[in-house]
Amino acid sequence: MDQSPEPSAAPAGSLLYGGGGDFEAIGREFLGHFVNLAQLHRDERVLDLGCGMGRMAKPLTRYLSPTGQYWGLDVGRSAIEWCRVHLTTAHPNFHFQHLDVRSHVYNPDGHLLPHELRLPFDDGVFDFVFLTSVFTHLLPADAQHYLAEVARVLKPSGRCLATFFLVNEVTRPVLDREGSSIRFPVALEGCWTSNREYPEGAVALPEDAVRSWIKPMGLRVVEPVRYGSWSSAVAEPLSFQDVILFGKSDWQSGNPNRQPRVDGRSPGRLPRRVSRVAEIDVERIGDEVVLMHLTNLELRLLNETGTVLWDAMEEIHEPSEWVAMLVEARPEFSRETHEANVALFLQELAGAGFLVVEAPEPGSAE
Ligand SMILES: C[S@@+](CC[C@H](N)C(=O)[O-])C[C@H]1O[C@@H](n2cnc3c(N)ncnc32)[C@H](O)[C@@H]1O
Repeated sequence: MDQSPEPSAAPAGSLLYGGGGDFEAIGREFLGHFVNLAQLHRDERVLDLGCGMGRMAKPLTRYLSPTGQYWGLDVGRSAIEWCRVHLTTAHPNFHFQHLDVRSHVYNPDGHLLPHELRLPFDDGVFDFVFLTSVFTHLLPADAQHYLAEVARVLKPSGRCLATFFLVNEVTRPVLDREGSSIRFPVALEGCWTSNREYPEGAVALPEDAVRSWIKPMGLRVVEPVRYGSWSSAVAEPLSFQDVILFGKSDWQSGNPNRQPRVDGRSPGRLPRRVSRVAEIDVERIGDEVVLMHLTNLELRLLNETGTVLWDAMEEIHEPSEWVAMLVEARPEFSRETHEANVALFLQELAGAGFLVVEAPEPGSAE
């Protein structure tokens, strides 16, 4: 039962806290990345650092189970109050807390400097931490400190998904290109910014610095980095900003039943291709399992003994019909965002004990 007073559109104030773009669609997009890239499970403990006005929390209220736990922290007091009223009221497992940290843009009266922040949690308590459009507002020393705090609060099997404007050999020459959607004309110590007076308004960090910081923190970059469209220098951007997935030491070596397995290889292989999905077909078998054919990703489904139950190559259905049915049955499946559908779908399969394998290339031997 959901009696949430959640608005259907972007809340007032969300432009500051969410940047431009479609508030709802971006939330749904990132839910797809959380599930798809970071293998977020419904019952996990999640920290949204710099949560703003719940752009990511809102779709998560439809994904996390009642035993899943979400914490949203932000330096913007009004944003936290808005989230408490509109999200915690209807979803008591969603908690929001204000951080008394100074930010010229978002909280000029904060008492702590960002590098003085200690997250209000014990070590090793979160499965998943994410920061969307937050490292893009932190200067280098603060960003390094935040990464160390994230590493501290993550479980050994934890992971962190974060977005950046990364400066590397590809983006360095186009940082101040005329006509770009965002420009970084001002070089500061260890970073670039769009505004000398308020540098935290938009910060671009050197990719090699980020990589070097995390080494002693017990974090690693789960390759590949998904570069974004902000620089107009990338052929197949995943999102607007660059997306990095960080993993703690034990991630992907834990309980295999907790993650969809892809042909016995890293679960990272399958999600990488999901972003290119153009169409889906789905089918219901029995009451519980929903099957899907992805045009760019041929799926076969096998039971635990390896028997093929369904081969997407042999099943063609009318996509719109099945998607409509699915959306009606399950509000967390979205009509617009195939990526989120796919991600949720893979979780369902894994939860139902299915092994998801890639279909062989046509003509290749099994
Ligand atoms: C562009 S908004 C993104 C909000 C949210 N993550 C989202 O994707 O909708 C940037 C957010 O970072 C928060 N923020 C800025 N500086 C911060 C800091 N030092 N610590 C934590 N949050 C910060 C702002 O208050 C704001 O909510």
